[in-house]
Amino acid sequence: MCPVVKARHWTFGDVNQLEQVFLNLFSNACDAMTGCATRELSVGVETVMRNGRGYLCCTVRDTGVGIPPEELDNVFRAFHTTKPRGQGKGLGLSISRAILAEHNGEITVGSVSGEGTSFMVYLPVYNQTQPVGRGPEKDD
Ligand SMILES: Nc1ncnc2c1ncn2[C@@H]1O[C@H](COP(=O)(O)OP(=O)(O)OP(=O)(O)O)[C@@H](O)[C@H]1O
Ligand SMILES: [Mg+2]
Repeated sequence: MCPVVKARHWTFGDVNQLEQVFLNLFSNACDAMTGCATRELSVGVETVMRNGRGYLCCTVRDTGVGIPPEELDNVFRAFHTTKPRGQGKGLGLSISRAILAEHNGEITVGSVSGEGTSFMVYLPVYNQTQPVGRGPEKDD
């Protein structure tokens, strides 16, 4: 029998900053699904090639109200918010974009009004460097 070899891909970054990125995405998704009949939040990770380079692509998808096409570019602008006063400063996505730029990554969005929204977080794969102190792991 052949051993099953799973590819493992690593990225590196500031855990606190990346946590901030994902917490904001989850929080936005929950807000967008308030009052919706279907409330589904899904997260997926895949490796993709972009401009000849490997990236981890983490997709955060919701079934919320969606974002109108003419608003899609605005969501990354600082202080752009559609939330009631006191509930959002409109900074989460602009800060996330800056954090990902610092990590040589990117954040993009796709949405269908009334159906839902997907945010894609791209982080570069660094397979040459293994985390210090981690030995070989058994396959799950
Ligand atoms: N998943 C989503 N579905 C629909 N609209 C979204 C979604 N995520 C973000 N938006 C829109 O983008 C705007 C900006 O999001 P962002 O996270 O930058 O700020 P905020 O959530 O309004 O405030 P803050 O994150 O500073 O508390 C939101 O107010 C909302 O209009
Ligand atoms: Mg937010």
